[in-house]
Amino acid sequence: MTGGPARILDALRRAGGQTCSGEVLSSQIGVSRAQVWKHVESLRARGYTIDGDPGGGYRLSGVPDRLYAEEIQIGLETSWLAKEIHYFETVDSTNRVALELARSGSSHGTTVVADQQTAGRGRLGRSFFSPPAANLYTSIVLRPRIHTAEAPTWILAAAVSVAQTIEQTLGKPRDVAIKWPNDVLLGGLKTSGILMELGAEATRVDFLVLGIGVNLNIDRNQFPAEFRDRATSLASHSGRPVDRLAFARSLYVNLESTLDVCAERGFEGVRADFDARFQMRGQSVSVFGLDGSELRGIALGIDDDGALRLQLESGDVTRVIAGDVTLAKESH
Ligand code: BTN
Repeated sequence: MTGGPARILDALRRAGGQTCSGEVLSSQIGVSRAQVWKHVESLRARGYTIDGDPGGGYRLSGVPDRLYAEEIQIGLETSWLAKEIHYFETVDSTNRVALELARSGSSHGTTVVADQQTAGRGRLGRSFFSPPAANLYTSIVLRPRIHTAEAPTWILAAAVSVAQTIEQTLGKPRDVAIKWPNDVLLGGLKTSGILMELGAEATRVDFLVLGIGVNLNIDRNQFPAEFRDRATSLASHSGRPVDRLAFARSLYVNLESTLDVCAERGFEGVRADFDARFQMRGQSVSVFGLDGSELRGIALGIDDDGALRLQLESGDVTRVIAGDVTLAKESH
């Protein structure tokens, strides 16, 4: 939002809950009182609760539960991430939009956020369930100076940031875990997925698009039947609704600092934070490859390039670059 409505909103906010007369607003903003009223009406149409009328003045008494750029950016303590935010009430996929922005030259940290996706993309050609006004769907354009082989470690770094944000939001629950490579679990159930797409020239990354979906306020019963026993949300887990704006701000702050470490020191810099949440280490797991093949073994840990090290039943150790991992006792 820009122009008159943004300036009126800013003035009402600065009034700190006090009523502002139409006259004061009109002289502060430099527009007629009729235009003040028009801007107030357009703010109301965006979901802001503004008490009053042209005669008695106006007071901001409520902000909508929307991920509007201007709301996220209030008090956002980042230096490069989410400085430019493209907000959509409904979009097919924030990753699709971010890829377009990246291809047309958008800078490091450009962020796309939506209240609903109609064709949310998941890994391996799957879809990501993205109902309106409940969760967070965001994609960030990144331009790290890295080799394509290093790109997977940025997914792991993002998973660490999501896990940290969930922990901060819920007050340090013990049951936040990262499921290699890109899911964050709460109490063993998926609460977040990450999808990275990239543009490269030969082996040099031109841009990464980091797409993150976090189930915040959706009721578990609303998940499609096929996910219901595998997925949850922060609110379903904790019994408390989550402030989506506050969550988005903390996520961007955590992401910025973790990605800065990753850019400077590689995965080695985030390894301790990753390992602390990687509960599969030492467990018997099944890894399903992209071709449907299955490998069974013990998860030994993560290599510096983000690959999973797996000790096979034969005793040999192999590296897995991509796939879906489940604990061996679970069914796929
Ligand atoms: C997965 O779990 O397979 C990855 C899911 C990634 C979902 C996010 S939501 C925001 C961004 N836009 C998309 O279309 N996908 C990612």
